Amino acid sequence: MKGLLTAGGHGTRLRPITHTKNKHLIPIANRPMLAYAIDYMAEAEIEEVAIIVNAGDREIETVFGSGESYGVKLTYIEQDAPLGLAHVVKIAEPFIGDDSFLFYLGDNILVGGVKKFLEEFERTQSNCHLVLSRVADPERFGVPKIDGDRIVSIEEKPANPKSDFAITGIYFYDSSIFEAVNSIEPSDRGELEISDAHQYLLDNGKSVSFSEITGWWKDTGKPSDLLEANRLVLDNVAGSKSANVDEKSSVTGKVATGEGTTIVNSQVRGPAVLGDNVYVKNAYVGPYTAISDNCRIVGSEVEYSIIMSGSSLENVECRIEGSLLGHDVELSQSQIRPRAHRIMVGDQGRVEVA
Ligand code: TTP
Repeated sequence: MKGLLTAGGHGTRLRPITHTKNKHLIPIANRPMLAYAIDYMAEAEIEEVAIIVNAGDREIETVFGSGESYGVKLTYIEQDAPLGLAHVVKIAEPFIGDDSFLFYLGDNILVGGVKKFLEEFERTQSNCHLVLSRVADPERFGVPKIDGDRIVSIEEKPANPKSDFAITGIYFYDSSIFEAVNSIEPSDRGELEISDAHQYLLDNGKSVSFSEITGWWKDTGKPSDLLEANRLVLDNVAGSKSANVDEKSSVTGKVATGEGTTIVNSQVRGPAVLGDNVYVKNAYVGPYTAISDNCRIVGSEVEYSIIMSGSSLENVECRIEGSLLGHDVELSQSQIRPRAHRIMVGDQGRVEVA
């Protein structure tokens, strides 16, 4: 059993963060998103894993290297252009060979890992095993029609869904998927669609089984999804107190803090995580906040947000909530008159002032 992980794509919905950073490196509870997927592979004892990256992208390899520290052996495969998920599978054929494999979209986060789904795939001995999640809005997803323990058809974003299941980004295949991805044609949007490959399997008499995710699952395509994933992971974070906390401060709930972090005259309420060398003074850090290394939160309040490394909030009167700050972002309140919003935001930035 091998693993195939995606870390390419356009990341258009997460611009401007993805103008300068691969989406799969965005921190969720201060760890790169893709680290969770690699952990799930290791837990499921999948040792050989290939990661698909955009052509020329070295960022992912710089962070994850050989994979040794995660307990897996990583190979990097460049995709010329994001030509679709079935195209990802197609170019991975030399790496996969005749093995069965787990194809995992690196922007999916779930509770409980993938081991039990792998066991289910092995038990059913089907050609393809899809992981489904019950959702309130199936019309946004690929939706299966189910008969007993088999999927009999799949519709992409149907107006009248035949079930309330979404097909998630976790797929198990035997090598019959390669005939499918090598036979289908690009869709109207010019991509080789994975749903067309699944339909090809069904049309050609292959068996498609499924498991249901009963816990939490998220495809982190939008900023609000990242904040939700961050909340979920923080809910399970173990508290650790290595910060320097003065006697005027209070740290309550599960709060994990890194080395060299200082909290002065402030309230920090978990679940929250503060990286290394974070400086918090005269401030409030509320639940579901993840602050990466080398940030400053001074005279400000922040809650339910992701603040990436090197950023600062200085004397911002209005509480920052539901926000995503990239690296080295400065947010401060004007101390000189005339007071005004003075903003320098990159392309496709989004600012909501109160
Ligand atoms: P998507 O979420 O479908 O697309 P995207 O990441 O390009 O984002 P957006 O829609 O906001 O532009 O991609 C799902 C996963 O697959 C994600 O991990 C990116 C990856 N991917 C590739 O690696 N190669 C591809 O050709 C495509 C389409 C996606």
